Amino acid sequence: MSNSTGNSAISQAKQGHGLIDAPPGLKGVVVTETKLGDVRGEEGFFHYREYSAIDLARAYSLEEVWHLMIEGHLPNTAELAAFKEELATTRRIDPEVADALPAIAKVGDPWNPLDGLRTALSLACTAEGLGPCIDLTPEQRRRDALFVCNQVPILAANLWRARSGESLLDPDPRLGHAGDYLRMVAAESPSNGRARALEQYLISTIDHGFNASTFTARVIAATGADIGGCAVGALGAFSGPLHGGALARSLDTLDKIGHAENIDRFVRPRIEAGERIMGFGHAVYRTRDPRAQLLLEISERLGGEKAELARQVETRVVEIFSELKPGREIHTNVEFYAGVLLDACGIPRPMFTSTFATSRVIGWTANVLEQAHDKQIIRPSARYTGPKAPAALPQR
Ligand SMILES: CC(C)(COP(=O)(O)OP(=O)(O)OC[C@H]1O[C@@H](n2cnc3c(N)ncnc32)[C@H](O)[C@@H]1OP(=O)(O)O)[C@@H](O)C(=O)NCCC(=O)NCCS
Repeated sequence: MSNSTGNSAISQAKQGHGLIDAPPGLKGVVVTETKLGDVRGEEGFFHYREYSAIDLARAYSLEEVWHLMIEGHLPNTAELAAFKEELATTRRIDPEVADALPAIAKVGDPWNPLDGLRTALSLACTAEGLGPCIDLTPEQRRRDALFVCNQVPILAANLWRARSGESLLDPDPRLGHAGDYLRMVAAESPSNGRARALEQYLISTIDHGFNASTFTARVIAATGADIGGCAVGALGAFSGPLHGGALARSLDTLDKIGHAENIDRFVRPRIEAGERIMGFGHAVYRTRDPRAQLLLEISERLGGEKAELARQVETRVVEIFSELKPGREIHTNVEFYAGVLLDACGIPRPMFTSTFATSRVIGWTANVLEQAHDKQIIRPSARYTGPKAPAALPQR
């Protein structure tokens, strides 16, 4: 990984002049360069390539933004048609993988759809014979990236169907990525309003700086591994409740609050006890998450009954945070209104994080393709803090 900041410290370390202590959580440390986008936390702004991600979500389709991420520019009409055709070639499910889905979906009580997705995606990539990136041409890597992105919604939706005792459904390549996912999950053609709402949510969550799962994907990519391995590892990082796993918990919090008059009674003691309130706070933003406004507007457009309560909870909880955690600037994050929106779209709550994964995998794979140009393995150091070594072995 190369970067233009901190070069003197890095070259000192390279010359063996000692280790550099990174701050906890690597906060503020630049570890690579990217042309994919950035998050400007103080301003409450993020972008894909040179465009505001929120503006893209308001005006473009998922496939257009996907093309932007992979190719570096928004497609013209002919390019978009060609891209859709290319996508359609891997919008299918391998028969052996389909046969395995009911067995995968049966394991686990309670069942976590994301765990099933992790297993099924690994299997699908094996069935497709994805090879180590290091051995592939850029064209082959790109094809594998599109394959992996196509598999995630197909597998996620059909695992849900299998778990619910429903028959599997083949994808319909004539439909858009978002609408087809909704069709497979709900087994009925979604209204244009719902399909577009989900599509806008998916666009706004494709990528978001060097978050934990993206970093994970790039670390794996730097070993030369196959793109399936990168995505499966990223899914593991993504599943954590402090990352993608916060989604359903945010809506649970809203349900537990129930009414505006309960907000103080519910939230205050929890913050005072040091608990985390899901859907609030962000590792980078010190403002309201720029996705919150878009997702709130879309939820209101759909007429979701929870949107009004969510708006009231946001206002009051931010006031409570500024009183109990002065100077910390804790605001709503993407998960807060995402849960409300996905609920209004008819996505079952256990499927929230898998749904988020259907867009974030586009970001992971775009990052993997970028990382594949860099031949440097990512291998930081740890400071040993155990007992002094070498110690004599215990007598046996
Ligand atoms: C996202 C998150 C992990 C960021 O953590 P972070 O980078 O450590 O956050 P900060 O450094 O801004 O935290 C500053 C302070 O605010 C507190 N804080 C941050 N988010 C909080 C939350 N949601 N509820 C209660 N307290 C919170 C921290 O405990 C810390 O308090 P302290 O300084 O008294 O110890 C954290 O905000 C969180 O756990 N949020 C809830 C989970 C969630 O919604 N995740 C989805 C993220 S998109």
